[in-house]
Amino acid sequence: MNITLRQLKVFERVARRLSLTRAAEELYLTQPAVSMQIKQFEEAVGLPLFERLGKKIYLTRAGEEFYRLSRTISLKLEEAEQLVVELKGTEGGRLVVAVASTVHYFAIRLLADFCRRYPKVRVNFKVTNRRGLLQQLEDNEADIVLMGKPPEDQDLVAEAFMKNPLVIIAPSNHPLAGKASIAIEELKNETFLMREPGSGTRNSAERFFADKGIQISASMEMNTNGAIKQGVEVGLGLGIVSMHTIEQELKDGRIVVLDVESFPIMRQWFIVHRSGKRLSSVARVFEDFVRTEARRFVRVDLHPAYGLREAHPAAEIAEGKI
Ligand code: PGA
Repeated sequence: MNITLRQLKVFERVARRLSLTRAAEELYLTQPAVSMQIKQFEEAVGLPLFERLGKKIYLTRAGEEFYRLSRTISLKLEEAEQLVVELKGTEGGRLVVAVASTVHYFAIRLLADFCRRYPKVRVNFKVTNRRGLLQQLEDNEADIVLMGKPPEDQDLVAEAFMKNPLVIIAPSNHPLAGKASIAIEELKNETFLMREPGSGTRNSAERFFADKGIQISASMEMNTNGAIKQGVEVGLGLGIVSMHTIEQELKDGRIVVLDVESFPIMRQWFIVHRSGKRLSSVARVFEDFVRTEARRFVRVDLHPAYGLREAHPAAEIAEGKI
C-alpha cells in the first residue's frame, strides 16, 4: 500500500473534524488540496474511507480503522521527535499546556516563573473551559492540562495539587453583605449569573443546588469569569466563582464573598495527561513544578476576613461527584 505520511496527516484531520472545510482551515490548505489528498489516499488504500450523506461526511468501517491507526502513528512520530530533541541534548523542547479558564488567573504567574527558570523552553499556552480541555485531551493536543476533577471513565492520569474553593459573590452594597451564616433558602429569589454549559464551575454549582433540592431562579448565562465579576459588580445578580478568580476585585473592595452555609463548595485542581502518553522531560519538569510551587501563585485563600470557613462536609461530598 503506497500511502504517504502527508496523506495520513490530512486524512486524520478530516476524520477528526468530519469536515473538509475545517480540516483545510486548520492545516492552512485549500479545500481542493484536501479533497485531492483524500482521493489519492482512498485510491492507495483501495476502499472508500468516507461516505457522503447530504452535506455531511461519515467514516466508513475502513475509515474508522485507519483513523485509529493514524492517531497511533502521529503519537509515535511526536514521541520520536521529542526523543530526538532530548538525544541532541537541547535544553529547549516544546511544552503544550492547556488550562481551565478559571485556572489561568494563577497559571499565568506560574508559567512566567517557570519560563524565567527555563528560558529556552518553547511554550504553547491554551485557555478554555472544562469541555474544551477534555476535547483537547481526547485529541492529544496538550501535553499537560490543569483543570477540575476529570471524569474517571476516560484514560487519563490525574493528580490533585491544590484546593479550589467556589464561593458566592455579591456587590459590596448587597443587603446580605457582611451577614454571618446566611441560609441557602435566603438566596431563593436572587438572580444568579451562571457560567456557560461545559464549564466545570457551572457543573459543580448546578450539582450542589440539585443536591440541596433548591431551584435557583432567573439565572443569567455568561461565558467568562470576567463577565460574571463585572455583572455582579454592577448589580446584575450574584455569581458563583472560584476564589482564585477574584483576588483583585476583593482587594479593591468591588465585590464581597457572602458567608453562605455549606459554602465554599470545596473542589480541587488536578494536573492531568493522557495515560500511555510518553511525557517529554520538559513536561515532567513542569508537572513537578506545578506540584511543588502552584500554591505560591494563589494570593487569596480560605480566610475568615473573606467570610470563609473551612468547607462544610456536604460540600466535599458534592465535589466527589465531578
Ligand atoms: P471552568 O473550570 O471550566 O469553570 O473554567 C474548569 C473546571 O472546573 O474543571
